[in-house]
Amino acid sequence: MPVLCVNVDHVATLRQARMGIEPEPVTAAYMAELAGAAGIIMHLREDRRHVQDRDIELVRKTCNTRLHFEMAATPEMQSIAMDTDPETVCLVPEKREELTTEGGLNCIDREEELAEFLAPLHEKGIRSSLFIDADTAQIDAAHASGAEFIEIHTGHYADAKDIRERHVELEKILEGIRHARALGLKVNLGHGLNYRNVMAFKNVPGISEYSIGHSIIARSIYVGIDRAVRDMAEIIRTFKD
Ligand code: PXP
Repeated sequence: MPVLCVNVDHVATLRQARMGIEPEPVTAAYMAELAGAAGIIMHLREDRRHVQDRDIELVRKTCNTRLHFEMAATPEMQSIAMDTDPETVCLVPEKREELTTEGGLNCIDREEELAEFLAPLHEKGIRSSLFIDADTAQIDAAHASGAEFIEIHTGHYADAKDIRERHVELEKILEGIRHARALGLKVNLGHGLNYRNVMAFKNVPGISEYSIGHSIIARSIYVGIDRAVRDMAEIIRTFKD
């Protein structure tokens, strides 16, 4: 059954707006788990714009489900991942000037480099995922790099300007899922998914996890994090295996 993993980065975004002590991502993570999250996702960016090192340490110590650590493929992040020992790492591209992760990681012609980067993490028992666009060549390269999962970037679908564009982007994702599954990759989806646009995947088989942050944290301002996570977890619980 597909599950919901909740990204709590934007709890930290709110705290960092005042460089203060609240709200605490670790508390949000705990509440998200109580409300049905199957995992907690945090992205420690090189510029530390939202999540801080201590947040990762605290969630690692208190997480009762699984910690998914999103990170750039840098030596610094590799070393933090080795120390933190999350259940999964997800490699993402990072640009300092971007508002959020803008596109998938380029894996083409980097298969060996990525495999080398992931090797010590795999040796430690940490599972790996690569955040990539729904492109068959990228999926082939991700597969060749030895990652167990890919996370297909759903941002282009979520940001589509009209129905036609949305349909085109959705088709790319569906084809990407089929292609990845045929290669034996496990498939997660994430970026820009909300309570409405996620419905397009209701009858799509072969998706392991949905990685959702912004829409849940935004809704939690109105209804509380418990309700916001529960609503999304209930939607995903009805989805096809
Ligand atoms: N997956 C990845 C790899 C991401 O970088 C992000 C955003 O941090 C998400 C999923 C969650 O996206 P959103 O916050 O738009 O739900």
